[in-house]
Amino acid sequence: MKNTKIIAVANQKSSGKTTTCVNLGAALALKGNKVLLIDFDPQESLSNFFGCYNSENNIADLMLKLANKQPVKAAEYIIHNELNGIDLIPSNNTDMNAFSRVILAKRGQETVLKRVLSRFAVFEDYDYIIVDCNASVDITVDNALCAANSVIIPCWAAPFNFAPLTNTINQIEDIREELNPDLEIVGILLTFCERTKNCAAAIDAMRKNYDGLIFDTTITRTARADTSLREKAAVLSTAKDNKTASEYRAVADEIVRRVG
Ligand SMILES: Nc1ncnc2c1ncn2[C@@H]1O[C@H](COP(=O)(O)OP(=O)(O)OP(=O)(O)O)[C@@H](O)[C@H]1O
Ligand SMILES: [Mg+2]
Repeated sequence: MKNTKIIAVANQKSSGKTTTCVNLGAALALKGNKVLLIDFDPQESLSNFFGCYNSENNIADLMLKLANKQPVKAAEYIIHNELNGIDLIPSNNTDMNAFSRVILAKRGQETVLKRVLSRFAVFEDYDYIIVDCNASVDITVDNALCAANSVIIPCWAAPFNFAPLTNTINQIEDIREELNPDLEIVGILLTFCERTKNCAAAIDAMRKNYDGLIFDTTITRTARADTSLREKAAVLSTAKDNKTASEYRAVADEIVRRVG
């Protein structure tokens, strides 16, 4: 995987991770990049967004086949989304839960996704692979962080306790120390931003606490970011004047500057 940038999108708390994966993926594709999204959450939100439900060819099945040394073709797991110009490997609730249980008994349990991505030549075609994590610190998130070069942490910009963010950063530091020394935090992306004093205070506190890590661009809370799945799927490619889309295009510019 010479030039492919693998980015995990992680936070223990629900914070716009899946929305970030979709919009950032489409924004990077609009810049001419070949982008693959991997749904790594048993909730299947990212898969559902692209109309995939309960997919037989899903990332957990691919990982389990590799871990069990069964023959498998990764290309058969990739779905192309014409509208947004991006590819997807879907999740599957049953298989992701089976993966989490079965893999704990095996050696190299944290590095299955890493091995999948380096085993198959098809993944070398991509400029960016973006992995949508679930809201926890479990073995699947460990796998995403071991496979990734970098992490984006979307974070709800509201007065809140810092515990979920701190736990996520601690998990990233553990993985960096023990398994993936090159793992970098690309940045913390402030999401659900509103024009309120509370929100301004939260943004201010975040910038002070995590100096240099916070993206300049923030994502505004807007109903257009939270429409029905079908409408959302069309937002980026058709409505170029859409606020959410233009904010994520600005984040994509910052990411390209930060990770190349
Ligand atoms: N900028 C935004 N403005 C308004 N609503 C948003 C915005 N971003 C995301 N949402 C909505 O908020 C909800 C949570 O967002 P999302 O699913 O992206 O978060 P998540 O971190 O992936 O959650 P989970 O941890 O459950 O996977 C969704 O209904 C989504 O459509
Ligand atoms: Mg999600």
